[in-house]
Amino acid sequence: MKPMQVITAAVAAVLAGPLSAQTAADGVAPEVATGLSEYFPGLSEQGLAALESKNAGESVVANDWMVAAANPLAVDAGADVLRNGGTAADAMVAVQAVLGLVEPQSSGLGGGAFLVWYDAESGELTTLDGRETAPLSVTPTMFQDADGEPLQFFDAVVGGLSVGTPGTPRLMEEAHRRWGQANWQSLFDDAITHAEDGFVVSERLASSIANGAERLGRFEATADYFLPGGTPLAAGTTLVNADYADVLRQIAEGGADAFYEGRIAADIVSVVQNAEGNPGLLSMDDFAHYAVIERPAVCMEYRDADVCGMGPPSSGALTVGQILGVASQFDLAALGPDNVESWRIIGDASRLAFADRGRYMADSDFVPMPTSGLLNPAYLTERAGLIEGTENALEEVSAGSPPWDHAMLLSDDQSIELPSTSHISIVDSYGNALSMTTTIENAFGSRLFVNGFLLNNELTDFSFRTHSNGVPIANRIEPGKRPRSSMSPTIVMQDGSPTLVIGSPGGSRIIGYVSQTIIAHLDWGMDIQEAIAMPHLVNRFGTYDVEDGTAATDFVAPLTELGFEVNPRDLNSGLHAIVVGDTLIGGADPRREGIALGE
Ligand code: GLY
Repeated sequence: MKPMQVITAAVAAVLAGPLSAQTAADGVAPEVATGLSEYFPGLSEQGLAALESKNAGESVVANDWMVAAANPLAVDAGADVLRNGGTAADAMVAVQAVLGLVEPQSSGLGGGAFLVWYDAESGELTTLDGRETAPLSVTPTMFQDADGEPLQFFDAVVGGLSVGTPGTPRLMEEAHRRWGQANWQSLFDDAITHAEDGFVVSERLASSIANGAERLGRFEATADYFLPGGTPLAAGTTLVNADYADVLRQIAEGGADAFYEGRIAADIVSVVQNAEGNPGLLSMDDFAHYAVIERPAVCMEYRDADVCGMGPPSSGALTVGQILGVASQFDLAALGPDNVESWRIIGDASRLAFADRGRYMADSDFVPMPTSGLLNPAYLTERAGLIEGTENALEEVSAGSPPWDHAMLLSDDQSIELPSTSHISIVDSYGNALSMTTTIENAFGSRLFVNGFLLNNELTDFSFRTHSNGVPIANRIEPGKRPRSSMSPTIVMQDGSPTLVIGSPGGSRIIGYVSQTIIAHLDWGMDIQEAIAMPHLVNRFGTYDVEDGTAATDFVAPLTELGFEVNPRDLNSGLHAIVVGDTLIGGADPRREGIALGE
């Protein structure tokens, strides 16, 4: 076993200037304190060292393999698999199984995920779409009231109506079937042990429960687990989840069919259809029809690299690609991170990309999309020209006209997407790379809890309106359709090999978090931990969100002067990244509890 080394981010901080100089150690992160080892008893020695590195603001360096994810126990489970010769796909199964237990508010068996895979043997890059599907019996107006007005967001979220057919169990199986080597059953051992012996509720989970207690209290099974005796679970409590262990055992023994064809699916259908006050439409038919779909990776050339990720139904790779495609026409490296001109360019590139996203992006199996036109170099040069023609924020931003061999009118949409979700980055000792973003959508999803796990509310990622002025909205709900996502699992390629594996949770801000970190690493030369910890500035639909309590607020006045509406606020990303080169260099977001661990 080769020793894990660490490097400090301090040198990169000095080189990169004040905006980048604020690391986990000096308090960017409201959740730094949650990385204390007392919440992760049983964590391996290597896991503890990785936790210390993260809390010191240092990247982690390794030679053979690496895994970065949102919870140290989940990372430890993946590390065990990789250490024993498992592939990145094997490790992902173990990581996801533990995340569903210890970070249940963000992802799990009741949700969906997108996976980008680099295959070392073939040199090919591909993606798997494990997104939830709309039940076959949905209707176009199901998220509208009697007057045809959109429901209030949480009126739609909480209960059965928002629950789509889960995709994560099938995706775990499909990835293992294609690229796994380890014994399938063994991949659930750590999660089953933690579920049966109990795990310690972390500060992050406890504060999420306390913040969401009212909605969690609406359903008996959910309340019994998260609010025993009516009180939110406190940090430090040991929590046993025997039902989850039982479900994992069934999947370990019977594969994903045990989830989709048997009692587990029947229990989910019953809970969804009988949810008090807000019953849903999911049926056994929906489970029977569910399939993971392989799709080509969507890539955008940026500087001397190709930034590759998940195409429709995710808007991730296309919107990240459009931001970078416009930004690439400016010399961000020369401008640097402390120049407001960099943020004017990135902010308006993002606004332009989000305008196209709102008009054109949805599940392309249901709605024709100008997928290649959106990344067409001439089109992006034309869009960049809008930014070049002024020194101020664009007064108005609207969708463009990307090249398209299809005549179609579409209306703009602004779906409500609140941050949650989780990201896993893995590189194995064979050179395979995996980038997977996984979700149950809102924190605690639909709040329905069945057999030890939460059900997603992914259907609220659809537009609640179907039309505007008689013109259809691309991301409207339809039977069997997959809701548009912002998840951006990404692998950056150079000369046919992966150089960076990255992704984040954060609703539609995921796109900004991933784009900014890629720019910070590639243009501004930041070490990956430094790039992740760097204060965020994110623009989606016009308002410029800057990370409160950080050096990003220095830009409030200059950006306001340029005409942006600036909004200081918490920006709770969960970036996990691995730089792939002669060594592997990993970073984990100081804003959450995750670590990067490698050997
Ligand atoms: N529900 C988060 C996303 O798919 O973007």
